Amino acid sequence: MALVAALRRLSHASLGFYSWRAAAATPTFGAWITGQRSFTVGSQPLRSDKVTVHFINRDGDKITVKGSPGESLLDVVINEDLDIDGFGACEGTLACSTCHLIFEDDVFKKLGRITDEEMDMLDLAYGLTDTSRLGCQVCLSKSLDGLVAKVPESVADARQSQDG
Ligand code: FES
Repeated sequence: MALVAALRRLSHASLGFYSWRAAAATPTFGAWITGQRSFTVGSQPLRSDKVTVHFINRDGDKITVKGSPGESLLDVVINEDLDIDGFGACEGTLACSTCHLIFEDDVFKKLGRITDEEMDMLDLAYGLTDTSRLGCQVCLSKSLDGLVAKVPESVADARQSQDG
């Protein structure tokens, strides 16, 4: 404690503008005092880390946006406030199939594996194809940069069909 008090006095006396908190927060000084290592993790990916996504909307309009690796395509639609009618009604809880998207063959092969739960929900989607996936279950990665995701002509909300 005496050492800490001495350092505190020293920081006030000789550093003036340089606050004790700032000093303690710096990796080298803070680590020396606390015996811990510290590091900074950026929460925002660099612009170059963004993944370009092209949505083809029901009316044929192409919407090009950028998302971050790890985000789902539903996240991208929400974050970019895209106007895709009825998309993502269950907010990614695998209960609606309104986030149904159709991919090109080469992109479809790069997507992660389909879980049984997603497959069950896909079976209820309108206009199912061999390259269909649910947007809430597809996460972006750099290898998917430039992907094209086609929104089907119509949407089926599985919750309504289950309700009758
Ligand atoms: S948002 Fe409902 S299943 Fe994807």
